[in-house]
Amino acid sequence: MQPNLLCQLFLDDICYRHCRDPLKRIGRVKRNTGIYTVRSNNKLPQREAEHMQTGDSLEKVTAEVIVCQKCRLSETRRKAVPGEGAAVAKVMFIGEAPGEQEDSQGRPFVGAAGKLLTELLASICLKREDVYITNIAKCRPPNNRPPRKDETSACRPYLERQLALIRPSVVCPMGNSAIHALIETGESVTALHGIPYEVGEATYFPMYHPAAALYTFQLRKVMEEDFRKLRGLLDSLHA
Ligand code: URA
Ligand code: SF4
Repeated sequence: MQPNLLCQLFLDDICYRHCRDPLKRIGRVKRNTGIYTVRSNNKLPQREAEHMQTGDSLEKVTAEVIVCQKCRLSETRRKAVPGEGAAVAKVMFIGEAPGEQEDSQGRPFVGAAGKLLTELLASICLKREDVYITNIAKCRPPNNRPPRKDETSACRPYLERQLALIRPSVVCPMGNSAIHALIETGESVTALHGIPYEVGEATYFPMYHPAAALYTFQLRKVMEEDFRKLRGLLDSLHA
């Protein structure tokens, strides 16, 4: 049997086992699986009521980000990259900042790292449209340098509003920048990846950044395993 075919059969098997009802179920009850202590927080009527009170919406956040000039990155960007995906998403993936491709298209994770992210999502039977994908900084830093503290601080309210509006059950910060922006810890992604943490209402599930796994086969395997764990976490939350 050809390796590709074997891989496809393997993926089909995972899909068969996990994707009979992919993320369609809305969380209902607080549930302690024994492995994860998790809280289901996607009660739609409550969410809608809250949003009507605040008057905020993802469309508003997006419109504001597109014209934002709150930090110096606005001077060098081509297009700001607010984020994209499902307004009612069970999972939110958060990267560092847009790269070249993202800057030219105004969409997150559309370059090589994005291709890998899309593949990893597919391996657990998720499409990009099923999840929400964004970054801690919405504009590309010159020459892809890491965003500076004052830039991510200026940008943070947008991410907080996105989190408050989407209220994903699971938040996946990818790579050290995103992890340290969201979880108070001195540990690095090497120690934290693939382990769920309760932060407030949500479960945070740190991962490697897909760019790190692009050229390292071992890391790619680790990411594949973490995505399988993510699938298990989601199933335990929304069973
Ligand atoms: N890397 C990121 O952190 N974000 C993107 O959107 C693309 C690459
Ligand atoms: Fe505004 Fe964020 Fe872009 Fe800075 S990075 S200009 S704060 S959207």
